[in-house]
Amino acid sequence: MTHPLVCFAEERERARERGDAWANLCAVATVTAAGEPAVRVLVLREVDDRLGVFVNDTSPKAGEFAHSETVAVLTYLPSLTVQYRLQCAPERMPPETVHAAWQMRPAVPKRMDWLYAVRPQSSPVADRAALLDALEAAPLPEPLVAPETAAGYFLDPVTVERLDLAGDGGVHDRRRYRRAPRGWVETILVP
Ligand SMILES: Cc1cc2nc3c(=O)[nH]c(=O)nc-3n(C[C@H](O)[C@H](O)[C@H](O)COP(=O)(O)O)c2cc1C
Repeated sequence: MTHPLVCFAEERERARERGDAWANLCAVATVTAAGEPAVRVLVLREVDDRLGVFVNDTSPKAGEFAHSETVAVLTYLPSLTVQYRLQCAPERMPPETVHAAWQMRPAVPKRMDWLYAVRPQSSPVADRAALLDALEAAPLPEPLVAPETAAGYFLDPVTVERLDLAGDGGVHDRRRYRRAPRGWVETILVP
């Protein structure tokens, strides 16, 4: 049986070659402190041969990552008509990994990360002009390094579900893979 994560990596690569906008993206769902679902699009990266995402600790989702045993990750690759749903255990990345990756960020997101120290991500702001003024005034260190609040999480899949809409005879092909002590166990699901 093909390793589901190898298959996922290969299909994301194929989607990338086809210019698929979702090849590098996913939606990550968490549960808020109030017990409500929350979902947002994040760039899904491969970091040290593991899946990972970069966030900022001032955003509510960072706390949700830190306090969740698993988060739900979804991506649909339209160029291949394949959906992946993963249940992943989040593990905080070491600061040196985050800080090295942070240096690759474009200028505005870097500045934004420093703004979060005084204006937490996802907090309200009076209007857009106030936001742009605050961004302009954001305290940047010299040399420019990542703030302490720049964070990353490895996402280690415990289950992987692949749904292929191009299954034989028009019947979708849906398989779930569960991580077990001796490898991945495949189960065929009614699509
Ligand atoms: C294409 C795309 C990529 C994004 N990538 C990231 C990302 O890698 N990290 C991140 O924190 N937010 C990213 N965002 C913004 C999030 O979707 C979200 O709006 C923001 O993180 C605030 O979410 P929160 O209120 O749940 O914390 C991205 C949004 C889009 C549309």
